[in-house]
Amino acid sequence: MVNIGVLVSGSGTNLQSIIDEIEAGRLDASIKVVVSNKADAYALERARKHNIPVAVVRVKDFPGKEAFDAEVLRVLKEYGVELVVLAGFMRIITRVLLDAFHMKVMNIHPSLLPSFPGLEVQKAALEYGVKFSGCTVHFVDDGVDTGPVIVQAVVPVKDEDTVESLSKRILAEEHRIYTRAIQLYSEGRLEVRGRRVFVRDAKAPSGAVENPGAD
Ligand code: GAR
Repeated sequence: MVNIGVLVSGSGTNLQSIIDEIEAGRLDASIKVVVSNKADAYALERARKHNIPVAVVRVKDFPGKEAFDAEVLRVLKEYGVELVVLAGFMRIITRVLLDAFHMKVMNIHPSLLPSFPGLEVQKAALEYGVKFSGCTVHFVDDGVDTGPVIVQAVVPVKDEDTVESLSKRILAEEHRIYTRAIQLYSEGRLEVRGRRVFVRDAKAPSGAVENPGAD
């Protein structure tokens, strides 16, 4: 069992999948608090519906990034958080949080890192013309989307894809692999060695996929 704090900025579908998996008894975690930098984030409604404590920390109330993060850290400590889960949290985390939670901050990103870090990455993947995209769960370090990779899922890019259709296909996989990564953490099965994260007793997938498929 792990006590988590989920940081959000937007609609919170990843938060919802974490809540659902916990309630279904498939994820051995407890959400102690949901923190948002946006007072109107729909993710807050989702948390309230499930009686999860929420906190809003507004960027404009603090003189800089470190002061903002210090307040987020105070809230996380107050609720006894052990693992910080970024779920659509659209801010770059500073050393204030990273030092307090070394290799204990996870993020989900809608591309196969290190391809397409940053923002609007599904659009960037389509424009580049890649045949596969996907999503990545990684530990957060002090770069942007650069930390050690925990789990990735691959989705094909289809000829008829739009940003919306590709994003939707990726999001479905995000919901699956994020809850899985948190469960692996909760079971103590993740071991970070340098840039590599080893998962104890995990099966390696076999074979390769290609897109377009062979005739
Ligand atoms: C998700 O696609 C997540 O991967 C992305 O924001 C979306 C949040 O959706 N995060 C990033 O791009 C972080 N760089 P949600 O609020 O419905 O979970």
